[in-house]
Amino acid sequence: MKNKIVLITGATGGIGKQTAITLAKMGATVVITGRNMESGEKAVAAIKKLSGNPNIELLLADVSTKGGIIGLVSQFKQKFDKLDVVINNAGSAASERKLSTDGIEMNFAINVLAPWFLATQLMDYLRKSPSGRIITLMGGDVPKKLDQENLQALKSFDGINYYSQSKLTMMALMFEYAQQIKETGVTVNICYPGQASTSMTQSVTAGMLPFLMRPLFPLFKFLVKPDGGKSAEKASRSSVFLATSKDVEGKTGLYVDKHVKIKEMPQAAANEENRKQVWNYVNQLLTAHPR
Ligand SMILES: NC(=O)c1ccc[n+]([C@@H]2O[C@H](COP(=O)([O-])OP(=O)(O)OC[C@H]3O[C@@H](n4cnc5c(N)ncnc54)[C@H](OP(=O)(O)O)[C@@H]3O)[C@@H](O)[C@H]2O)c1
Repeated sequence: MKNKIVLITGATGGIGKQTAITLAKMGATVVITGRNMESGEKAVAAIKKLSGNPNIELLLADVSTKGGIIGLVSQFKQKFDKLDVVINNAGSAASERKLSTDGIEMNFAINVLAPWFLATQLMDYLRKSPSGRIITLMGGDVPKKLDQENLQALKSFDGINYYSQSKLTMMALMFEYAQQIKETGVTVNICYPGQASTSMTQSVTAGMLPFLMRPLFPLFKFLVKPDGGKSAEKASRSSVFLATSKDVEGKTGLYVDKHVKIKEMPQAAANEENRKQVWNYVNQLLTAHPR
C-alpha cells in the first residue's frame, strides 16, 4: 500500500482504528477522522506507534451533517492531491430517535447520507487513483425487506431493527451508485465486519433489542465484553480486504461478509425499484438542505 492514501471515517477507536493500524503497517498514508481532538490525537499516536508508520493524519469532522462533510473534504483537499481509498466506517446505532443539526434522523444521516455524500464529494480525487475504491461498512443481519415508508423512523423507531434498516438503505443507495459510476473505474463495495467489542456495542441497551431477544441481553453483553481490541481487529479484515486486495481490483457492487468471502448483494439492496426509490429520496433530501 506504499504511495496509497486511505481516508477512514470514525477511526479514533473500534473497528476503524484497527483498520487504520493494519493499513498503516502495509505502508499506506492513513487519514483518520473523529470529532474530538484529544481522542483523535491519542489514536494517531497509537496508530503510529503500533504500525511504525509516521504518515498518519487526523481530520476533525462531524459526518452527521452536510456542512461537516463539506468541511472534511475541504480539509482533505488542502493537504492531499489524490485519494486511493475511502472507508466509510463511522456509524450510528442510536438508542432513541434524534435529529442531526440538519434536522435528519441521526442513524439515517450517519449510516446512509454520509457515506454516499462523502464519496460524491471525493470523486474527483478518487478518479486520480489508478484503482479508486469506496468501501462502506454494513451492520448486523441484513433485513429481507427495505421499509421505504420508514426511512427516517417517522412511523416507528425500534432500536437495532431500525439500525439494520438504515444500513440496508445505505446498501441499496451505494449499489445504485456503483451502477451509475461504473465507467469511471472507481469501485463501490460493501462489507460486513461481524460483531466486535467497541464503544458502539458497549452502548447497546436491552431496550434496543427486538422484544423476544431481550432475555438474551446478558449473553449479548458477555459476547461483547471489552477484549483490548481483539474482536475489532478481526472485524477489520473485510474492509482491509476490500481496500487492498488485487482480487477485487476494478470490481464493483460487491458484498463481502465477516469471513471475508464475496457474496451476492442481498436481494433487498440489489432490487432495482428499491435502489431507485432510495436514490430519489436522498437526492431530494440533500437538495432540501442546501447548507
Ligand atoms: N461493533 C460491531 O459489532 C459492528 C457490527 C457490525 C457493523 N459495525 C459497523 O462498523 C462500523 C464501526 O463500528 P464500531 O463498532 O467500531 O464503532 P465505534 O467503536 O463506536 O466507533 C465509531 C467511530 O465513529 C465515529 N463517529 C461516530 N459518530 C460520528 C459522527 N457523527 N461524525 C464523525 N465520526 C463519528 C467515532 O468517533 P468520535 O466519537 O471520536 O467522534 C468513532 O471513531 C460502524 O459503521 C458500525 O455500524 C459494527
